[in-house]
Amino acid sequence: MNPIRHVAIIMDGNGRWGINKGKSRNFGHKQGLKTVEKIIKESLKKRIRYLTLYAFSTENWKRPKREIKYLFSLLNNFLSNKIKELDKEKIKFIVIGKKKFDKKLNKLLDYSEKLTSNNKRLQINLALNYGSKSEIMSAIKLIKKKKLLLNEKNITNNLYTKNIPDPDILIRTGNRKRLSNFLLWQLAYSEIFFEKKLWPDFNENDYYKILMSFKKTKRNFGKI
Ligand code: FPP
Repeated sequence: MNPIRHVAIIMDGNGRWGINKGKSRNFGHKQGLKTVEKIIKESLKKRIRYLTLYAFSTENWKRPKREIKYLFSLLNNFLSNKIKELDKEKIKFIVIGKKKFDKKLNKLLDYSEKLTSNNKRLQINLALNYGSKSEIMSAIKLIKKKKLLLNEKNITNNLYTKNIPDPDILIRTGNRKRLSNFLLWQLAYSEIFFEKKLWPDFNENDYYKILMSFKKTKRNFGKI
């Protein structure tokens, strides 16, 4: 049985879910946040060590202003209301991505990271303003700046995800089969699960089934 250390998730389908319900895309995002909370709880139960959630990509800035504003207000409220609870549960919170937001959010993100920095039960890596190609480019620039050799080990150690093992599992909900510029370097040997359900409909049972199916998968890492 394969151990599961790290699960990464592309939480796709909020907008469609909201529209399907005859409401707004933002209504779907609000419901999507409830799924986030469910999956965090289930990850604690299943003793997952790292959970990486794709919340906002560098390309998502092209969405209508109203939607962007709403997504960040959801994040703001979530952290303001829940970070102490996450800390109590011994959850460590970090952001992966370019941390360039408005002053208030930057402050809240820094506070949340600092508050939870010593926790070791579950680490949540929230991908925010994240793009994998730009992450790899910035690793290469850092390597040059530090005058290090350009090799695989040094690239790995200069990504936002340094010190985090590569994902064992990638889940993408929302019935789309693409990686959308997410963890392109880190997913080289991950098992990928494409899920038809839209993110707000995804639940603990769906998650559990994927984890169980992964446990039984034979992982070869290029060997036979
Ligand atoms: C993709 O669905 C989802 C996002 C771009 C945002 C993800 C945000 C959440 C799950 C809620 C907020 C989370 C936190 C942690 C505050 P989409 O909008 O691209 O859906 P579509 O494919 O149906 O358009």
